Amino acid sequence: MKTKITELFGIKHPIIQGGMHYVGFAELAAAVSNAGGLGIITGLTQKTPADLANEIARCHDMTDKPFGVNITFLPIVQSPDYPGYVQAIIDGGVKIVETAGNNPQEYLPPLKDAGIKIIHKCTAVRHALKAQRIGCDAASIDGFECGGHPGEDDIPNMILLPRAADELEIPFVASGGMADARSLVASLAMGAEGMNMGTRFIATKEAPVHENVKQAIVDASELDTRLIMRSLRNTERVLSNAAVERLLEKERTLGPDLGFKDIMEEVAGVYPRIMLEGDMDAGAWSCGMVAGLIHDIPTCQELIDRIMSEAETLIGSRLNGVLEN
Ligand SMILES: Cc1cc2nc3c(=O)[nH]c(=O)nc-3n(C[C@H](O)[C@H](O)[C@H](O)COP(=O)(O)O)c2cc1C
Repeated sequence: MKTKITELFGIKHPIIQGGMHYVGFAELAAAVSNAGGLGIITGLTQKTPADLANEIARCHDMTDKPFGVNITFLPIVQSPDYPGYVQAIIDGGVKIVETAGNNPQEYLPPLKDAGIKIIHKCTAVRHALKAQRIGCDAASIDGFECGGHPGEDDIPNMILLPRAADELEIPFVASGGMADARSLVASLAMGAEGMNMGTRFIATKEAPVHENVKQAIVDASELDTRLIMRSLRNTERVLSNAAVERLLEKERTLGPDLGFKDIMEEVAGVYPRIMLEGDMDAGAWSCGMVAGLIHDIPTCQELIDRIMSEAETLIGSRLNGVLEN
């Protein structure tokens, strides 16, 4: 399958693994890239730019295929050492960066000067148009279904993707709710040039997270995610658990008076305990509705091969068959 995204990034299949906090380590990024997709290391999971440089070097040792680094621009006052992370990416010879969160404009010149291609993850067409205007090479369109931060517009991909196709000139991938060949073929039909998956890639053999996390995704249905932090305009889709239900109760009780300080216990610094130690009630962790479509824990190679071969059958037999009838 050849699309504008496979051409832009020099990858075999139009499948990207989105940056994920405490999941996107070199092991997963390399496994996805070795399977012909685009693996992405999560920059901010590395505590310092030097740690990120080390993670990039580890990934180069595990794959000679292209891989990327995610930089998430967080809506917080005391920001991480973004210039340092950007320099580590440039010095590490990485050629693809996934930006997300706030506008990445300030950091684009050094990245572009180094020949790095930028894919910006957006939850709204207007943000994607802005990304196009400031010089991003591609967009990742994250629908309301997505695990993580879906924004505040609540537009699902059946609407958001065709809207993006109508407006954008740069290529884009579909993100949020993507799990299998059906997701890929539907995304292509709606104008995307490939797909980005988060939650699906956590339930793979190579994802370096605790088995409890993978099993929780397999056990979950599409009804098991919750939206938290709505009133703080920092909405996040997470898997329901004891901590999340406690947090939602605080939201109901405190209403507009709720502040970050009230929910620190449920959201601050909980990822290592969940992802690395498998303490599944330690706090809120991002997970997509797509959990309802995830029933196994394959290798990345098995997953991507299955998606590509079933996509061929879907297009060649089922869709072609519809035409012939
Ligand atoms: C556990 C987890 C952590 C995530 N962390 C980040 C992150 O740090 N930065 C980011 O840009 N996106 C993050 N995401 C979003 C994913 O990159 C991707 O956009 C999203 O998972 C797509 O939706 P899906 O889960 O339905 O596939 C995270 C998602 C999950 C499930």
